[in-house]
Amino acid sequence: MRIGIFGAGGMAEALGGQWAATGHEVMIAARDQAKADALAGKISARAGTWEETARASEVILLAVPAPSAPEVLAVAGKSVAGKMLIDCTNAVGPGATLTAPDQAARIAAAAPDAHVVKAFNLCDVDVWRMTPPVFGGRPLAVPLCGSPEAVEVVSSLVRDIGCTPLNAGGLDRARLMEATMAFMVGLWFDGHDAQACFPPLPV
Ligand SMILES: NC(=O)c1ccc[n+]([C@@H]2O[C@H](COP(=O)([O-])OP(=O)(O)OC[C@H]3O[C@@H](n4cnc5c(N)ncnc54)[C@H](OP(=O)(O)O)[C@@H]3O)[C@@H](O)[C@H]2O)c1
Repeated sequence: MRIGIFGAGGMAEALGGQWAATGHEVMIAARDQAKADALAGKISARAGTWEETARASEVILLAVPAPSAPEVLAVAGKSVAGKMLIDCTNAVGPGATLTAPDQAARIAAAAPDAHVVKAFNLCDVDVWRMTPPVFGGRPLAVPLCGSPEAVEVVSSLVRDIGCTPLNAGGLDRARLMEATMAFMVGLWFDGHDAQACFPPLPV
């Protein structure tokens, strides 16, 4: 698949690196061209402007800070239309509060002709670097919210990094994933064992 990535930071490197290593064509766009070039060189990808990257891609991973996402999408412009747009952004402020109550809806409003899928926001970047992310013998489950067609496409990219996709419903449910992330991170920051809230079900 032709995958564009907006951003050249940790998430871009982790997921872009995995997808490039599994044979996808990855293209990086960032506000600093030198950083886009450097990451592209590191993970065997190409680099381009926001617009070039969007135009060349079937799927775009939005991996910039949540507040800047609408601005980046505005610069990329019409080239984002019709594309699968993966929103992994977390609008989280101090004290693990949500700074935007429905970030995925903001992304969808900024790119009304794209097919937005919320995914990859629940785990830390170091989890996305794992090859594969498997815990206690169980592959990491990755919930996705979006239209069934878009979720199906992005699910194949989840499988490619050794994880199990979970169709978690429409994009209207993305706000639940965003709130879950903030709530769990808040527990974790407070020193609690957040993972123990979800014991494995007996098989
Ligand atoms: N880190 C995690 O554990 C994690 C996990 C799940 C989801 N996420 C989400 O993934 C997204 C990316 O996180 P990350 O960890 O990859 O962040 P990061 O390492 O800080 O990288 C952020 C990227 O966005 C760029 N950027 C920053 N401000 C920008 C602006 N105003 N306009 C355009 N580009 C801008 C940065 O460019 P410069 O290098 O020039 O600053 C960099 O390329 C965030 O929305 C975050 O909430 C992160």
